[in-house]
Parts: sequence; C-alpha cells; structure tokens
Amino acid sequence: MAIRPILVLPDARLRAVADPIDAVDDDIRALAKDMLDTMYDAPGIGLAAPQIGVMKRVVVMDLAKEDEKPAPMVLINPEILKFSDETTITEEGCLSIPELYYDVERPSEITVRYTDLDGQTIELEAKDRLAVCVQHELDHLDGVLYIDYLSRLKRDRVVKKFDKAAKRAVG
Ligand code: NI
Repeated sequence: MAIRPILVLPDARLRAVADPIDAVDDDIRALAKDMLDTMYDAPGIGLAAPQIGVMKRVVVMDLAKEDEKPAPMVLINPEILKFSDETTITEEGCLSIPELYYDVERPSEITVRYTDLDGQTIELEAKDRLAVCVQHELDHLDGVLYIDYLSRLKRDRVVKKFDKAAKRAVG
C-alpha cells in the first residue's frame, strides 16, 4: 500500500495532457493500486493519475455509499463515446482544489469505453453521479479542471486563492 501526495492547484501537471497506456502490465496494476489507496485515504470518490503527477490515462473511482461495500473501478484509456443532450447540475469538488465546492452543469448521461485491469474493453452507460464523476475524472486526463466550467469571476477567485497560498508556502 502506498499513498502518494496529491498535487494541488496551481501545479502545472494538472494542466498537462496525459499519455495513453500501451499495455496493462504490472506497473499499471501497481499504479492503479496506489491510486485507489490514495483516493480512499483522502478520502475521495475519484482520482486521475495526473493528480499524483503520473501523466498516464488512468482513472480510479468508487461511488459506493458509506453503508455499501467498496466498489473500486479502474478506467484505462477511457473515452466518452456519447453525451446526452439533457444536462444536470451537481455540486462538485476536487482533491486538487481542496475545501471548495461549486455547482457544475454537465450532460446527465454518457457512454464511456475503457480498458479494465484485465485488459478487457468495457463499454458502460452511466447516468447521475457516475456520469458526472466519469466526466470530471476524464477531464483531468486532458488538463481540464471543473472550475473551468464556472463563470470567469468565480474561476479567477479560486485560481487567485491557490496562487496566493502557493506563494506563501514558498516565501
Ligand atoms: Ni478532480
């Protein structure tokens, strides 16, 4: 078990595009395990590899409720094939933008295709929280953060807050 440090805004790696995985090997399985450990420890319901500074297209999620048994998911090279026209507004947060939550509007249903840890191709239709979480985590693989969907005013306020905190940490 290895808990890795989670990168926080304004770390530039959160804005970079992650690379596809060629093969699901022991390194990828170990990475996925570390990501799940890190996510559960945070605690969070989703984590993308760039959030621990690994620029690979891997996402982990677990949307089980507190009274349910854990349901870890590992999505390798995930790709959204279809978005619904219908949208939904959900309050989102992000482990890389701690302690803040904002409403975000996204398509309410999606179809996602990914490779699992056994190397199988999976096609999954998702709605509600799962659809929102998949979209949020996949955005991380392209350097997109949920605050990018907020009004410019709100987003600038968030960015400034973290820029200031980073300066304080250095100075
Ligand atoms: Ni996030």
